[in-house]
Amino acid sequence: MKKIAILTSGGDAPGMNAAIRACVRYAIAKDVDVFGVERGWQGLLDNKISVMNSRSVSDIVHKGGTILKTARCPEFLKVEYQQKAADTLSAYGIDGLIVIGGDGTFRGAKDISDNCGINVCGIPGTIDNDLAYTDFTIGFDTAVNTVLDAMNNLRDTMGSHDRVSLLEVMGRKCGDIALYAALAGGAEFCITPEHPVDIEQMSKTLLKSRLRGKTSNMIVFAEGAGDREEICRQIKEKTGISVKTTTLGYVQRGGAPSMVDRVLAARMAVRAVDVLLEGKTNRVVGVNNNVINDFDISEALAMPREFDSELYKVMNILAR
Ligand code: F6P
Repeated sequence: MKKIAILTSGGDAPGMNAAIRACVRYAIAKDVDVFGVERGWQGLLDNKISVMNSRSVSDIVHKGGTILKTARCPEFLKVEYQQKAADTLSAYGIDGLIVIGGDGTFRGAKDISDNCGINVCGIPGTIDNDLAYTDFTIGFDTAVNTVLDAMNNLRDTMGSHDRVSLLEVMGRKCGDIALYAALAGGAEFCITPEHPVDIEQMSKTLLKSRLRGKTSNMIVFAEGAGDREEICRQIKEKTGISVKTTTLGYVQRGGAPSMVDRVLAARMAVRAVDVLLEGKTNRVVGVNNNVINDFDISEALAMPREFDSELYKVMNILAR
């Protein structure tokens, strides 16, 4: 393998740039030519490819977002578009592709490998931490730290007013951002898609906490965990307490990557380049018990996600 390309696709995540940098510099160290594709799969369809060198990735290790830009590309589900993308890669003599993104990105990678013979390896880059085969995805740690900063600010104002606050965080259908932020930030409640809320119980706990002298409470709510407004309405009905809501939104996707995400990005990138150099295809890299591994894409995507119920229990015990 002499030429590889890199793209980022789907929602961006802090640490993607650190992964791009590590792929480029490690591949160059292995005498491989590297190309960058702009705007994910769309860039392959639009022939947006350029050579990358060590200087192309200077001064990006600390930056959020992705210098390669990203996009969602629904057309890529069709084989004719996959073939067009593969033809673009072949025209440049590129025989391996590293994709950085989430499950949608990995499905695209599998398709272009299965249908058009391109060797692919995926690196998990998403704040959601929603891929079962890996303990952590690049961007998750930074996103949780961003949520923690917001929680600190909310505590100041909510505590001053003796208020109950609900902070909505991202994660699509995965409650990990909410769970880790709730535990690390000392929230009283955490509502996730995996643990639907028992409003009766929650309202009782809220009232009891008032009797114990707590004057302000924090609820961390994962998007995808139900109807937030309805939950607040029912809490008000059962307790008489108005809940003040905040949606953190896209702030969670930006910002300088944490040390954890930068190191993870470097370790995963090195493995992804090695995977392609070994001539493998249809692989994704992950981290399990702090060891970097690679897996078959289909097997990785078929693994059922397990919510960390133990951590959820701990969070609840410590919240009282
Ligand atoms: O997958 C990352 C993520 O930020 C999710 O947490 C969120 O549900 C989604 O992307 C938002 O997607 P978009 O950028 O298309 O609005």
